[in-house]
Amino acid sequence: MAFSSQLLLFLTMLLPFAHSISVTSTKYWNITTDPQGSVRLNGLAFQQHALTTFGDYQYVAFYSTGPKGYGNHYVNLGRRRVSPSVGEWQYFAFTDYEQKTLDEHNTISVGISGDGKIHLSFDHHDVPLNYRVSSSGIAKTVPEQWTQSASGGSVQHSLPGSSGPWTPLTYPRFERIANGDLLMEFRIGQSGAGDSYIHRYSSTSGQWSNIGKYLQGQDNNAYINGLTSLDGKLYVSWTVRETPDASTNHDFYFALSEDDGRTWKATNGNSVSKPITPSTTGIKVYTIPQNSEIINQEAQCADSKGRFHALMRDKSSGTAKFYHYLRTVSGTFSKTAINVAISTPPYLSYRGKLASAGDNLFAILPDAPKSTVTIWGATAAGDFKDWKSLATIPNMNCEPLVDYDRLAKSSVLSVFVRQGGPFGDRKVQVWDFGLAL
Ligand SMILES: *[C@@H]1O[C@H](CO)[C@@H](O)[C@H](O)[C@H]1NC(C)=O
Repeated sequence: MAFSSQLLLFLTMLLPFAHSISVTSTKYWNITTDPQGSVRLNGLAFQQHALTTFGDYQYVAFYSTGPKGYGNHYVNLGRRRVSPSVGEWQYFAFTDYEQKTLDEHNTISVGISGDGKIHLSFDHHDVPLNYRVSSSGIAKTVPEQWTQSASGGSVQHSLPGSSGPWTPLTYPRFERIANGDLLMEFRIGQSGAGDSYIHRYSSTSGQWSNIGKYLQGQDNNAYINGLTSLDGKLYVSWTVRETPDASTNHDFYFALSEDDGRTWKATNGNSVSKPITPSTTGIKVYTIPQNSEIINQEAQCADSKGRFHALMRDKSSGTAKFYHYLRTVSGTFSKTAINVAISTPPYLSYRGKLASAGDNLFAILPDAPKSTVTIWGATAAGDFKDWKSLATIPNMNCEPLVDYDRLAKSSVLSVFVRQGGPFGDRKVQVWDFGLAL
């Protein structure tokens, strides 16, 4: 009797904190058979983006093995209607470019500008730019047929209208800004010695311009968690690496731009000069020493309430943990371990993602030892500490990617993943989690 009333009291104390985010539907689609070999080319954390929604359609970019077999891949672009209801996937391969480098850096990124043009950049590790753009706004004036000829365009090694450098280039990312223009961000240089650049595509002129070098290494390089534009603000957070060895990653840095990357501010609102370097005053938010098992390019997002969130792991406590970095609207940061029931992340194991919908935050965390991807929800009311298990995807061997645009417009968390298992069985998949928030 005494025991159960104590238990009841305990539960009553817990209940006000148990939030109501839940998954109301789960469905997945096999997108393609993942390419042959041990190298991952689909599902890497720095792909911004592989899955994205524009208008009533969702788009997915992926590699599949071409007719020549092992080591010969095509860039593919898929689409399906997602509004007002979900339709069948349609795909085509760009058969005029064969991807051959077996290297996990050489992923695909897709961006869609407000004029409906679809931009793709792919197959880089310290090589000249590879870029192609549809010749018309096929995401806006949606063609009936989904074929390479509907897209048009050919592979280019510069951004039309802008100025280089265009090599040695790695990690292209795209981010659409409020007026429909598209930013492209990439590293020029090498691991341990590189700089980061931003270019801007105008949806009115159809031309690119050079916004310039915004992050500069000091015989090291910044590895960004992402470039996020929301409500007129552009957010970037990063760690710095001293050499090609990931164990030399150190510290957590943050900057904010209110003019789409032209000028930058530290978290306290003070303007900083461009390019930002690791020693720029006010840029370093947390000191985390080398050999702390930070994995570069983990994740970040902004929310519609003006908060900024980042995900980076480290073992500063003695055990490797995923941490949630939260920046309030007033510019104050906190760093809190994400205490959820997953394995301790092994060194260099798969990276996760964060995504937000209003006052709700989602952590999409690989549990590498269990070969799963786990999905968790937390709320602003619970200080983003009330993590609740929402879903687990089995047989995973990848870094999950999120469709942020779809989550912003609907209550569907759509995730791009790659399965484990042998070639042939191993699929690239998209999972849709319908959410009740
Ligand atoms: C996905 O592919 C696997 C085979 O690898 C098959 O067993 C499964 O039924 C497929 N699922 C869907 C939803 O098509």
